[in-house]
Amino acid sequence: MPNIEIQPDAGKREPATSQPESQYYLRFSLPQRYLHGVLAATFLGLAFTGLPLRFSNAPWALALSNAVGGFGAIIFFHKFCAAALTLAFGIHVANLVYRLVTRREFGLVWGPNSMVPNLKDIQDFFGNMKWFFGLGPKPKFDRYAYWDKFDYWGVFWGMAIIGFSGYAMWFAPFFAKFIPGSWLNIALLIHGEEAILAVGFIFTVHFFNTHLRPGNFPMDLTIFTGRVTEEELKEKHPEEYERLLASGELDKYRTAPPPVWLKNFGRVVGGAAVVAGLVMLVLMVVAFVR
Ligand code: HEM
Repeated sequence: MPNIEIQPDAGKREPATSQPESQYYLRFSLPQRYLHGVLAATFLGLAFTGLPLRFSNAPWALALSNAVGGFGAIIFFHKFCAAALTLAFGIHVANLVYRLVTRREFGLVWGPNSMVPNLKDIQDFFGNMKWFFGLGPKPKFDRYAYWDKFDYWGVFWGMAIIGFSGYAMWFAPFFAKFIPGSWLNIALLIHGEEAILAVGFIFTVHFFNTHLRPGNFPMDLTIFTGRVTEEELKEKHPEEYERLLASGELDKYRTAPPPVWLKNFGRVVGGAAVVAGLVMLVLMVVAFVR
């Protein structure tokens, strides 16, 4: 677990109930939560400004364009969000390289805390399929399940494809010095189609995993609070729990319960993101079908 940050003062607590309060453990550090926040905000912004460009004949796209001062303004906001996302992505990659090269944290590329897929992920995938049909026990997931890794690498893949094609269009005269001009038309095609794939994936699969999956409904607040209860840790990441318990490291991650304001912030912001995503998904499907 990288970037451990234990917060001694968690602020105002939930009112006492008859149930004893759970023990909390830190799952995501503050920088990790900020990164996710910037990623979510810029992705929503890019989808909100990219979709009207892609479906510019749709009535809602024209209405939005009229409201903000034309498609030029929409493109401006699109580029603004793109620059912010690229900056966050660059900081994330630079941090990984620094920790790998200077601090020699090889656990980033291999081992239970790594995002790199391994044999256990393949076994867990098939084990989970069997469990879905009642043909076997539920796999014991470690810190990151195979779908967490899929989401993570999906963003890397998306940044490479969407980002590169986006910058090729943005700085077309510069890129045209190195590639045939017709490739810029292909860049537009790739950018638009990959964007639809990304929007479709995030607003269905990712939202399902984090909000609608049994055990998470109506919302998993971990990415806002950074904390999980002992029960959640045992239930969702049993392998990690047992490993930390056996090595005596578990206590290092003990932390105070999340403050009420943070949970409410997560509910409001997370809820708004889901509603915005689902609205865009519906608009996209309607425009596509028409
Ligand atoms: C670093 C990231 C990105 C950059 C640099 C970028 C840049 C651009 C540029 C320059 C355009 C053309 C605007 C014009 O018509 O002049 C464009 C269009 C578009 N972008 Fe992006 N973009 C990025 C990420 C994204 C993402 C993440 C999405 C989706 C969530 C997205 C969705 C779209 C769509 C749907 C279009 C319209 C394509 C079409 O007309 O077929 N973009 N983008």
